[in-house]
Amino acid sequence: MKIHARACYTYVYEKRGLIMISIAIMGFGVVGSGVAETIMMNAESFSERLGGEKINVKYILDLRDFPDHPLGGRVVHDIETILSDDEVSVVVETMGGINPAYGFSKSALERGKSVVTSNKEVVAAHGAELMALAEKNGVAYMFEASVGGGIPIIRPMRKCLAANKIISVSGILNGTCNYILTRMERDKLDFDTALKQAQKLGYAERDPSADIEGKDTCRKISILASLAYGKTVPTEKILCEGISDITYNDLVYARENGFAIKLLGRAKKCADGRISVLTAPHLVPDDNSLAGVNDVYNGISVVGNIVGDVLFCGRGAGSLPTASAVVADVLDVIDNCKVRASWKDADNTDFIRDVSEDVTSSYIRTNSSKESIGKAFGSVDITEKNGEKMFITPEYLESDLEVVLSLLDGKYTRIRLMK
Ligand code: NDP
Ligand code: HSE
Repeated sequence: MKIHARACYTYVYEKRGLIMISIAIMGFGVVGSGVAETIMMNAESFSERLGGEKINVKYILDLRDFPDHPLGGRVVHDIETILSDDEVSVVVETMGGINPAYGFSKSALERGKSVVTSNKEVVAAHGAELMALAEKNGVAYMFEASVGGGIPIIRPMRKCLAANKIISVSGILNGTCNYILTRMERDKLDFDTALKQAQKLGYAERDPSADIEGKDTCRKISILASLAYGKTVPTEKILCEGISDITYNDLVYARENGFAIKLLGRAKKCADGRISVLTAPHLVPDDNSLAGVNDVYNGISVVGNIVGDVLFCGRGAGSLPTASAVVADVLDVIDNCKVRASWKDADNTDFIRDVSEDVTSSYIRTNSSKESIGKAFGSVDITEKNGEKMFITPEYLESDLEVVLSLLDGKYTRIRLMK
């Protein structure tokens, strides 16, 4: 029997004489099942692209069985079955969470298997280590689907924008939150109903508080900032605010004043060379392209010192859009085999500027008295609705704003204005 070999992959002839590239999928939920569906749906075009080779989903690792699925017979429950099979050259990790996904990925890389993941939690926390491990073992650790769902962003930043120094990268990075804000404003849905719809559509994380409290966006901007600036930007160093306090009245006030409210992840290089990174809801001016990005769509703006600004937009969550990015990585791994690490763990985090040094205007909604608002902010244009007052502040240094806000005699919600 003739064996066709290419560096770091094992190919086997099936009895039919076809060359098969065996992969395993760990985690057969929304994304993992989408990956299998994509591979089955577009099998012919993949085979053409790969010079006749076929992708064979040899194993599916999950806690459950899927007896009614066409690939149900390939389900295994022990990771060792996959790790010990030399025919498996690529492992797709779509389980989510840090453990055991991180350990399984590490073991796969150590055993000479490339890993493709959609798991931003693992990439944000352990990306540098896993990329270095992949490099050491002559394989790849790929994570296009970890940011922006189906939007190509990791590869374009790594390759197509390689001629640039990245000035800033910012955007709407969570499909669930953007869906909720859009439905609340357009359909007047209450927050919980909109969230339930997002869950039903497969957009939300297993624990949706990761979406609505900003943690998911925080992980994604951590990945983009690490990629842009070459060092791990730990999520613990990133201010993280979510959308759970936002009301219909906030959205209406914003719209009437020429803004859309969007949860943004933002990273930029400051004049002194440090970087500033945060996750928070923002008032985005209507004439900014991100203001028109709605529903489950994500929009990511990258500003490079050579190209200027580039906008990436597309479906930020969902089974097939995300599978599109995962399978593209699988194809790339099969084609290229080796990918260099994109960033390294840093010795310290001095290169990250504290958010207290930011200067911003803010929208405030509060039940405070007009007297205390006047005392805190001087003369501002106040709109009143349902007993609440809304206004936009002048620009403040963040640390000064904290002091001014403490003068209010009621509760408040604050949203930054995007500059
Ligand atoms: P799901 O919860 O739908 O799927 C995860 C699957 O992994 C489930 O079938 C689960 O089984 C299985 N699983 C969990 N733990 C284990 C384990 N220890 N061993 C074997 N199988 C296990 O999640 P998603 O598909 O939505 O998300 C997967 C990853 O992709 C997450 O990191 C998520 O953040 C990311 N992602 C999700 C997107 C989306 O639109 N949904 C988009 C982009 C990224 P069980 O259900 O029985 O627990
Ligand atoms: N829960 C995530 C979102 C999935 O809604 O954006 C995509 O990463």
